[in-house]
Amino acid sequence: MKTQLRDGLLRSIAGVCHTLNKQLIFRQPAQSAHDRAIELLRLLERLPLSTQCCQLLHRVAFAEAAVDAGSLRLSQRLILAAGLLKGEGFASEAEALHAVIDARRNIIPGWAVLPALLGPVEFGSFTRHPRLGNPGTVIWRDAGAQSTQNRVGLRNPGARAAARFLGDRRHQLPPEFGINIAVSPGVDDIDEQERDVLESLTFFLDAVVIPSWFTLNLSCPNTEDDPQGHQLESETGQLCGAFIERLRDRDLDIPLWVKISPGLTGDQYRVLMRVFHEVGVRAVIATNTLAKPSPDDDSVQAGVGGGDLFPGALDAVRQLLAEKNRMNYAVDVIACGGILDGASFRQYLDLGVKAGQYWSALVYRGPFAAAIIAAELAENDYEYERIHRESLA
Ligand SMILES: Cc1cc2nc3c(=O)[nH]c(=O)nc-3n(C[C@H](O)[C@H](O)[C@H](O)COP(=O)(O)O)c2cc1C
Repeated sequence: MKTQLRDGLLRSIAGVCHTLNKQLIFRQPAQSAHDRAIELLRLLERLPLSTQCCQLLHRVAFAEAAVDAGSLRLSQRLILAAGLLKGEGFASEAEALHAVIDARRNIIPGWAVLPALLGPVEFGSFTRHPRLGNPGTVIWRDAGAQSTQNRVGLRNPGARAAARFLGDRRHQLPPEFGINIAVSPGVDDIDEQERDVLESLTFFLDAVVIPSWFTLNLSCPNTEDDPQGHQLESETGQLCGAFIERLRDRDLDIPLWVKISPGLTGDQYRVLMRVFHEVGVRAVIATNTLAKPSPDDDSVQAGVGGGDLFPGALDAVRQLLAEKNRMNYAVDVIACGGILDGASFRQYLDLGVKAGQYWSALVYRGPFAAAIIAAELAENDYEYERIHRESLA
């Protein structure tokens, strides 16, 4: 499609999304809007041809912009971050498997239409066993700061059921996707953590779910629970090393990426980069959300994403890239945190980042967020952004 035509179309879409947010979506609590969005995905996936329609919309909205990052060629610079395509929570593995095998339920709403619409996506985080996550309201927004906050608590169907679900659909899986695996919260012993993570990985490999990359989410619980970095070096090395070895044992050259927290010390970022380089991690995603008191109860923490995360994530990326360049490490840095418009993404790219991940932008810029941000960047035109900020004011 001609650039000007695409640009015009994206401007219109951006305008419609702002109006919809203002008039309709932001009048509902973030939790209800999120739940409705998931139900909409579920509904879409029941309709015939919805995936094909999404593929068509993708071709119209997204310009070709392939980039090499994390030992991969990505079709575009922006990847949907983990946390949306992770599926339902269950109380037990038996219940989760029953939902997949016997009830034939769509336990990961969005699994087909979102990659078709958005391009590269990361599924997960998945833990070894299913988790119901935290009860009640667990998602908030702060529209003024364009931020999100959540304490979903790693709700997910567990790696075995997720692998079975995706494996049953492996011929319809998208051409580029990642699988994000997290260490189960509460598993403290490092050898148990290794077993936990390897079992999760093995379920996906046995189900012939072969992603373009795996991400090991070390930002919960390891780094957040351990802000001073005690044992961080050896634990990270052991977990990543075992993960890569398991892939090698299967003769699979799937890159491992690792996701880390914001707010670590400069020393921790330096040590992590060295460990990643030594064990063969191909990219580090910086960062996950920033823990802050939740809006409803300041005695519990909830992770902040979007605008309020941006300065901390940018700082983490700056430190990681400085170390990469200083030591000539073969570890790419994937930016994640407050990529909301062309201008914020430009700041990461100016540091030397090649690709980024986004979550909150979907809330503030709509489903075509990645295409809009890419267009703003290509045009060096932050007009959309101005309209957007004015409409929020
Ligand atoms: C509701 C919600 C759930 C999330 N769940 C996960 C998750 O399961 N695993 C993970 O690695 N990151 C998760 N994240 C973090 C995002 O992937 C991303 O790192 C974070 O939101 C920062 O990006 P943003 O500033 O573009 O929102 C979640 C974020 C949100 C808002």
